[in-house]
Amino acid sequence: MHDFPRDFLFGAATSAHQVEGNNSLSDWWEYELAGKLKYRSGDACRHYDLYEQDFDLAKELNHNCHRLSIEWSRIEPEEGRFSLEELGHYKKVILALRRRGLNPIVTLHHFTNPSWFARRGGWGLRESSDLFLRYVSKVVEELSGEVQFWVTINEPMVYLYHSYLLGVWPPQEKSLPKTQAVKNNLLRAHINSYRLIRAIYQKNNLGRPLVSVAQNMQAFVPCVATLRNNIAAYLRAKSFNLEFIEKSIRARALDFIGVNYYSRSLVELRGWGIKNFAMDICEGKHSILKKNSLGWDIYPEGFYDILVALKKYNLPVFILENGICTEDDSLRWSFIRDHLNKLGQAISSGVKVLGYIYWSLIDNYEWDKGFAPRFGLIEVDYNTYQRRIRDSARRFAQVCLKGKV
Ligand code: FCB
Repeated sequence: MHDFPRDFLFGAATSAHQVEGNNSLSDWWEYELAGKLKYRSGDACRHYDLYEQDFDLAKELNHNCHRLSIEWSRIEPEEGRFSLEELGHYKKVILALRRRGLNPIVTLHHFTNPSWFARRGGWGLRESSDLFLRYVSKVVEELSGEVQFWVTINEPMVYLYHSYLLGVWPPQEKSLPKTQAVKNNLLRAHINSYRLIRAIYQKNNLGRPLVSVAQNMQAFVPCVATLRNNIAAYLRAKSFNLEFIEKSIRARALDFIGVNYYSRSLVELRGWGIKNFAMDICEGKHSILKKNSLGWDIYPEGFYDILVALKKYNLPVFILENGICTEDDSLRWSFIRDHLNKLGQAISSGVKVLGYIYWSLIDNYEWDKGFAPRFGLIEVDYNTYQRRIRDSARRFAQVCLKGKV
């Protein structure tokens, strides 16, 4: 049994492209239409129109916060032209959350880019951070009065791997030098956004915002504990989980550590090149752990280990994503319960945690995997767009209500 702190934030997350529908000015949409991605997002969950209804459900489930993302391509449909209408839309969305007592956690970049930005060279451009900052400034000026928590970039390392190393997400590049350049540009974009957001709050005499990134962290476990696998697992964790965070802290540009945790990777080094260190995973398929419907190991122990290892940074941690896709809703509940238990243990071991956000509030478009993986606390019927609260959501709602698991 664990009691969470009194002001603990409990909620669920979504991202614009995955739920809104018709995100037609983004690079993802363009790749979907061109057939370069297997699945189209189409109407997604029609959340762009149905957000009030979805937030009613979040409230009914006793959430007190909600994480969402703003779609850059809606706000700036053409370079330098900002849509007042879309800024107004997101203002309404944020106010709809506030009215329901849901603290908005706002992400500024969640994998998608405006088409014009992608065509100009996207995150490979040296001026990418400056272009991003113009958009950030518009959004933050508009919403600052209603928002305390900002997430500049969602999972920079995941974006980097999928889009520039593995070549599966737009712009489908496979280039080490590009990867390095994009990494630097994303870091610059985060640090400069952090400073800009702070400056806007100061200028407008608002309280201090809390700004971070959502860092995907995996438990990297050597498959067979040989010396070289041990070294590889250590280095993987250092570069994938921690480098972005450490560099942001060094630049004094991180107010809390935003953690997205799902699973573990079994590391098995097959060579000594940079790509081996960056990517080698055991392909033996001999892990005996239970898995989600995408085949990811369920490994709550790793969650605890990762959290405890963050203590040394002396910053509060905020779980911005943790979740499971499954057809078996009782497995969803045990996943949530086990991870909350590990979170409780980490808190008892002295980790300061601000909140826990489940991925996702509703089933949605899971990027290159389409609509099949079901991550939602709430089921979406893609024929009727009706929502149905799952049993696991009700159980999680009790945790949110009582503040204990
Ligand atoms: C994370 C992403 C999120 C969702 C989940 C399953 O990496 O941030 O958009 O796709 O995985």
